[in-house]
Parts: sequence; C-alpha cells; structure tokens
Amino acid sequence: MSLRLAQFSDLHLPYWPARWRKSDWNLKRLAGWINMRWLFRSELFELAETVTQALVRDVQQRRPDAVVLCGDVACLGFEEEFAKAASLLRPLLESFPGVAVPGNHDHYVADSVRSGAFERHFALWQQGLHTEEGTYPFAVVLDSLVLLAANSAQPTRWPWDTRGQVGAEQLRHLQDLLALPAVRSRPCLLATHYPLLRANGSPETYFRRLTDADALAELLARHHVLAWLHGHRHHPYVHLPDVQRGFALLCSGSATQRLVWSYYELEWHLPSLIVRRRAYWLPTDEFVEVSQQEIPLAHLP
Ligand SMILES: [Fe+2]
Ligand SMILES: [Fe+2]
Repeated sequence: MSLRLAQFSDLHLPYWPARWRKSDWNLKRLAGWINMRWLFRSELFELAETVTQALVRDVQQRRPDAVVLCGDVACLGFEEEFAKAASLLRPLLESFPGVAVPGNHDHYVADSVRSGAFERHFALWQQGLHTEEGTYPFAVVLDSLVLLAANSAQPTRWPWDTRGQVGAEQLRHLQDLLALPAVRSRPCLLATHYPLLRANGSPETYFRRLTDADALAELLARHHVLAWLHGHRHHPYVHLPDVQRGFALLCSGSATQRLVWSYYELEWHLPSLIVRRRAYWLPTDEFVEVSQQEIPLAHLP
C-alpha cells in the first residue's frame, strides 16, 4: 500500500504588524525585526508570499494523503503573521488532513505562546489522538501510517539563544501515545521543528540545539519510529537510518527562502520511503521535481 505526504517548513512570511503595542516590545523582537527588516533576511524572503501561493497550487495538484508543516511560518511570533500564513494555506488546510508544529519563530516570545495564536490558526492540522489535556504531543492516524507531532520550540529571552526543548512532560506523553493500539500497530513518523543533527552529521551548537534531542532520539529508537521530519535548518538534507539510530532524519528546508525554496513529497512504499524534492522554479512560477531518493527503512511493527 502506498501513501504520499507533503512536508514543508520555514515559510517565514513577513507580516508582522506595522504598529506595535507597548507590550509587543522586547529585546528579542527588536533584534529579530532588525534582522528581518534591515539585514540579509528580508531579501531572502522577499518572494515568500508568491512562492507560498505556488506551493499551495503544487500541493493541490499533487493531492497528497496528508500534509506535514514543520513550523516557522512566522518571523516574530505575531498573530497577524499566523493569520496571513493560514489564509494563504487555507486551500490546503481545508482539503488535506495534516499535522502542524510551531517553530522557534512562531513561539518566539512568551506572548506568542500564551496567546495560542499559532494553535488557533492551524487548528485543522492539530486534531488527533491525545493521551492528556493540552495540544502537544498528538497523533494523527492514517490508513497505513501514524503521524506524531511534538512541539520542540520554546520562547527564549536573549536573541542569541535559539535553543529548543521538547520537555519531560511531552516525552512522557509521547511514550503513552506510542503505546496506544492504533499507534503501535502502524509505522510511525515524528514531526518537530528542531533537528537532531545538522546536514554534516554533527549536533547543533550549544545555543542552537534541541536540549533534550538525545532523550527524544532514544525514545524514537526504542519504539521503532521510522523517521523524524523537521525544518529549522533552511537547506534540505536527509540522513539515512543507521544501526544505532534506526530512523531516518528528513529536513525539508525552507519552502520560500530564495534559491533553496523547496519541499518534500514523501511516498510511503513499504519497506522504503521515496523522498522527492520539489523546488521552486522562478521563470515559470511553479514547483518542479529536482531529485528523488529511496530510503530503506529499518524497522516495521
Ligand atoms: Fe526558520
Ligand atoms: Fe527555526
């Protein structure tokens, strides 16, 4: 049986409000705004809306069985950014089941988390099985596959600190989810924003790492989860399962960043997973397939 997923991430749509309230100001947002507005980032994402519209058209044409959004739809964690992103993605939100997890630019400051704005605007992709109250983690059960979603983003105080964390509570609930009959009888994939490893195979640096990445990896390996889908890093890469880890790592990169703009179409064809990279082609304003890779998967329930 085959099943296809569209995995995309890091749209970074620059729609923060023109006027900020007094309570919107803090050092991290100011530094983020300078970075987005005046330094290199504004140019990298100046076509983000156009490319997102092309992405929506492409995914609608490809008709996947489900969609995985790995976070960073926003830049500074304002509700206005989520509203705009959700309105652009509305045709997909209303047509396909899916999972959406926030990135560090979505849960940018404490207010972004408290407002629940990301969760409200992407509620259609946050419906699934829970073992406890609360949004994360959750599991979406498809015919021949389970999509697990965990929040790895957390607001931080200082601009240079972009560490993420899943936390002991989510790890415990993930374990409970993995024990549910509907989940343990199917192959599982996990979606987060943060990666386990960088493209070169090394762990993230101290202030960029997922602080409990090893505990999460150990849990996934123990329960024979087949792949960890993520974003955060804007250049896409794949790490094959190895003997110790047992699961694949799939970074879909940024869907909208100039020249690396792409997303993954994952075709589940047991016992392997075919990863097709579809990249934006500026002259014709469309996404086209640029590579294909077959990944042998180690464990099946
Ligand atoms: Fe990002
Ligand atoms: Fe990120």
